Amino acid sequence: MIRFDTQHGRLATLAADCLAIGLFDDNALTDAARELDAASKGQLRRLRESGDLPSRPGETQLLLQLPGVRARRVLVVGLGKRSEFSRRAWRKCVTAALNGCIRGRSTHLALALERPEAGQLDDYYLGRAVADLAGAAVYRVNDQKSGRRPPAPALRRVSVAGLPAGARVAVSKGLAHGGAISDGQKLLRDLGNLPGNICTPRYLAAQAKSLAATHRALRVRVFDEAQIRRLKMGCLLAVSRGSAEPPRFIVLEYRGGRRGAAPVVLVGKGVTFDTGGISLKDPAAMDEMKYDMCGAGSVLATLQVVAALKLPVNVVGLIAAVENMPGSRATKPGDIATSASGRTVEILNTDAEGRLILCDALDYSRRYEPAAVVDIATLTGACVVALGHHFTGVMGNDDALARELVQAGTDSDDRAWQLPLTEDYAEQLRSNFADMANVGGRDGGAITAAAFLGRFTQGLSWAHLDIAGTAWVSGAQKGGTGRPVPLLAEFLLRRAGRI
Ligand code: BES
Ligand code: MN
Ligand code: ZN
Repeated sequence: MIRFDTQHGRLATLAADCLAIGLFDDNALTDAARELDAASKGQLRRLRESGDLPSRPGETQLLLQLPGVRARRVLVVGLGKRSEFSRRAWRKCVTAALNGCIRGRSTHLALALERPEAGQLDDYYLGRAVADLAGAAVYRVNDQKSGRRPPAPALRRVSVAGLPAGARVAVSKGLAHGGAISDGQKLLRDLGNLPGNICTPRYLAAQAKSLAATHRALRVRVFDEAQIRRLKMGCLLAVSRGSAEPPRFIVLEYRGGRRGAAPVVLVGKGVTFDTGGISLKDPAAMDEMKYDMCGAGSVLATLQVVAALKLPVNVVGLIAAVENMPGSRATKPGDIATSASGRTVEILNTDAEGRLILCDALDYSRRYEPAAVVDIATLTGACVVALGHHFTGVMGNDDALARELVQAGTDSDDRAWQLPLTEDYAEQLRSNFADMANVGGRDGGAITAAAFLGRFTQGLSWAHLDIAGTAWVSGAQKGGTGRPVPLLAEFLLRRAGRI
């Protein structure tokens, strides 16, 4: 884990083993470069004039033992054009600085890069982003390779330097919050990356227990299959029937707010592997369905953040954990299940299982008379078609809540986009044999899935995050992303009045 802080004083005398400064592609030196240039009697300017320093965005050059400078290594980072130096460009450059410093095996990085205008990135979010990007830069995939591992990054401390005195308090607060959030993202990424034969419903329950054991304000309760049956969660059980892995229903309660204050309830889809069941999926990329528990992982990770920061709010996490398998006992297309709410569902497609486990978990949330309920789920391929991999889908029955979540995503660089959800879509779920069907056809698939959940959240202030496109990336860099922990943490930090 990295320590974050701010460092004050002249850059030339700063104690750090790597000092990162930026250079634009124009002739003017940045403030930081001018300081080091003066200390080194014009060395930076000479290097720049001979074309030995980078200026293109994200390019780096390591200088060793720059005369007159205490830091042994100075990492010069190209910032590109001054006019194009946005929040996004700055993030790229900070990541380049972190990677350059990690490659050189430095243990302490002092960051003195230029920053974008305050309108794009204020002091607090500067700290948040530095911690966020540092956590991502040192993350290494938790693989199960048996060979010798490359050494872990040596980076132990990251300091933001070159700040005006008035910025330090807000930056430090951002660093503290950001550090907890990036620890949460690491937890989510690790859980997602684990294979389905390790990360089972029982494994998720054990994770919840160990989280509760480390934080006094967290309480956990785990329901086994017999207890789930007593809760009458017939839709959840219809999904897990085909699997030899027993289901778990996990309840985590965080008490940080006033006694009796209505909690925010987070509900996570925890399908530890989704084969599709009898409506079996195509083999292509089916391995990625180990990530189908990322909603559950998000709930665990967000509660970890909330507990680590001791936020003054009440938060409840509900996790429906199952494995979706075909088998002789598995639910068949056309089978009818009775949900905890008493309503019947005709299961026309056993691959639309997420909504089945969520409807029972959402119903359970009613006992808390919650201030808001947010479910998080890798729910539909259709959401990936609609939004690609950049935005999480937001739907719900309370526009103010949906807007709050979208804003939290914008502020935390973990973006989300609202899709419409009206009664029109629910009509696609009509069934001849039960109160509703679990699928509504191909068109508007992300929204009809949400419409199904909407049937179980009447009277609640509810929103749904479809993270199918954002929870992990495919291809050569396959792995969990840690999203939407920044969004959820932002939402709760705001509700708690901490920002
Ligand atoms: N877990 C999947 C959704 C998914 C698919 C997420 C691909 C990310 C990538 C979900 O359980 C599912 O299978 N949904 C079906 C619903 C359909 C049967 C109505 C889908 O999206 O195809
Ligand atoms: Mn499925
Ligand atoms: Zn699924």
